[in-house]
Amino acid sequence: MSEELEQLKETCAHCRACPLGDTRTNVVFGVGNPNADLMFVGEAPGEQEDLSGTPFVGRAGQLLDHYLFAVDINREQVYIANILKCRPPKNRDPLPQEEDACIGYLREQVRLIRPKIIVCLGRIAAMRLIKPDFKITAEHGRWFEKGGFLMTAVYHPAALLRDPRKKEDMLEDMKQIRRMLTERGGAAGE
Ligand code: URA
Repeated sequence: MSEELEQLKETCAHCRACPLGDTRTNVVFGVGNPNADLMFVGEAPGEQEDLSGTPFVGRAGQLLDHYLFAVDINREQVYIANILKCRPPKNRDPLPQEEDACIGYLREQVRLIRPKIIVCLGRIAAMRLIKPDFKITAEHGRWFEKGGFLMTAVYHPAALLRDPRKKEDMLEDMKQIRRMLTERGGAAGE
């Protein structure tokens, strides 16, 4: 990990900027390649993530791994983070004030990693990073240019567990992300 990213992780590990600092087991900062061309951003840690300190390791994470494998993306070559670094109690949606308190960490992660493509996993990340009125059912798989980054959103893997009919769209979106990354000279498969 780059030194600055390591320092940011260390600062984040002691964060008390919102009340989730009182209920978390571990801060879930993010994992992966500090030079990643492709970055995934989810919503917030769940139970398994809170216990392990690693994003997307529970059931939703295993489904994400399945899609990465299907389109020849190596999890170690990308970077995976969340909007919130601490688990909201009972996995409720993040509160606006929690997002506001936490978003600076993600902004710094993006600034230091400088990915070519940012993929929002689900509605909450897309509303925060792409546009506040983002509609995941209508707009998943579309491309947006923001702040010099190419961005898109796909269904959250937890939504696919609840509604398997969305899986076909997810595979198409992931294939398109793979193609776009290759077109932009990005790496993720080795
Ligand atoms: N859901 C998320 O949005 N992030 C995780 O890290 C795990 C589940």
